[in-house]
Amino acid sequence: MARKRSVRLYGTDIVGPWYTLSMPLRLKGLTLSSGVIQSPMAACTDLPFRLIAREKGLEFAYLEMVSAHALVQDSRKTLELMKSIPVDRPLGAQLVGCDPDIMAEAAARVEDMGFDLLDLNLGCPVPKITGGGDGAGSALLARPEDAGRIFEKVVKAVKRIPVTVKMRLGFKDATGAEAVAIARRAQDAGVCAVAVHGRTREQQYSGVANWKAIGLVKAALSIPVIGNGDVRTGEDARRLIEESGCDAVMLGRGALGNPWLYRNVAAVLAGSKEPPYVPGFAERKATLLRHLELEVEHEGERLASRNMKRIAPWYFAGLPGAAKFRNAVCTSEDTGTMRRLIEDFSPSAAPSEASLSA
Ligand SMILES: Cc1cc2nc3c(=O)[nH]c(=O)nc-3n(C[C@H](O)[C@H](O)[C@H](O)COP(=O)(O)O)c2cc1C
Repeated sequence: MARKRSVRLYGTDIVGPWYTLSMPLRLKGLTLSSGVIQSPMAACTDLPFRLIAREKGLEFAYLEMVSAHALVQDSRKTLELMKSIPVDRPLGAQLVGCDPDIMAEAAARVEDMGFDLLDLNLGCPVPKITGGGDGAGSALLARPEDAGRIFEKVVKAVKRIPVTVKMRLGFKDATGAEAVAIARRAQDAGVCAVAVHGRTREQQYSGVANWKAIGLVKAALSIPVIGNGDVRTGEDARRLIEESGCDAVMLGRGALGNPWLYRNVAAVLAGSKEPPYVPGFAERKATLLRHLELEVEHEGERLASRNMKRIAPWYFAGLPGAAKFRNAVCTSEDTGTMRRLIEDFSPSAAPSEASLSA
C-alpha cells in the first residue's frame, strides 16, 4: 500500500508525486523516521551488535528481553544485559513476566534507567518462560484477561516513555484471532504500538511468517502495528507492508552478520528502485573485525571469545570455506587467535553476487 508523503519545503507542505512505504513512527515523545527497527534477540542483540548496527545506519534497537522479576531483585546479570552507552540511542528495553505488580515495578525501573521505550514480551516460546501455559511470554496470548491486567498496570506505572507490546499471532491458533484480541486490550490500556511476529508459539521459528494475518491486527487497531518475520531483503519488507498494511518493519535473523540490511530496507521503503547494496568481501571482513573489537571492549576477553564463536560465522555464511572457518573459530580459545583466523580467511573461490547478497 503506497502512501503519499508530504514533505516540508520552504515552509510549505508539499504532497507527492513521490510515494513511500514508510512514514515516521510517532510513539508518544519518540519519533522514528525510517520505519526500520531491530527486534530484540536474546544472546544476539547485545551492545556490540547494536553499535555495529548503528554504525551501518540502524535508527532504533531493543535490548534482548530481561525478566521483570530479576530486574526488581537487582540481579547483577540482568543489569549487565541492560548496559548501554550514549551513542546506543534511541533504545528500547523489553520485559518478560506475568505478575502485573512486578511488571509494573520493573517498568518504572526501566523508565528511571533512561530507556526511550518499554516493550512487553508476549512472544517468547521457550518452556522455561511459558511454564505449562500459565507462565509468561507467548503463554499470555491464550490468557487475554491476565495480559490486559499487565498492560493496564504497566501503562499506569510509566510516566513519559511509550509502552509497546511484541507478540506472536497466537499460542496455538494460527488465524490471528488471539493476536487481535490481545492487541485490542493493549490499545485499550494505552499501549502505543504493537509488533506482531507472524508465527504462532507452536511454530517456534519454523515455517513461513504469515504476513496477511498481521494485516488482521492492523485492520483491528488504530495504533501503529509493526510487522515482523522473515524479512531478509528490502523487497521482503515491501511485500510485508503491502500484504499487511503495517506501519513499520522489524528485522530479526536477517540482520545477523548483515548490518547492511537496515539501509537496504530503509531505501526500498523510501521508494528507491536502486539495486540493494552488496558489501564486498573486504568490507565484510572489516566489519567482522570491528565487531570483534567492540566485543572485547564492551564484554571483556572471556565473554567476547565465547560470543565470537556464534557471531563470526554469521558474516561469512554461504562463502566457500565458511564451514572450515566456523570450526576453527569454535575451537579457538581466545580472541587473538580468532582475529588471526578472520584476517587470514579468504573464500576458497571468488564469491558470487548471490552468496554475498544482502
Ligand atoms: C536467537 C533468538 C533470540 C530471540 N530473542 C527474543 C527476545 O529476547 N525477545 C523477543 O521479543 N523476541 C525474540 N526473538 C524473536 C525475534 O525478535 C523475531 O521476532 C523472530 O526471530 C522473527 O523474526 P525473523 O523471522 O526476522 O527472525 C528471538 C529470536 C531468535 C532467533
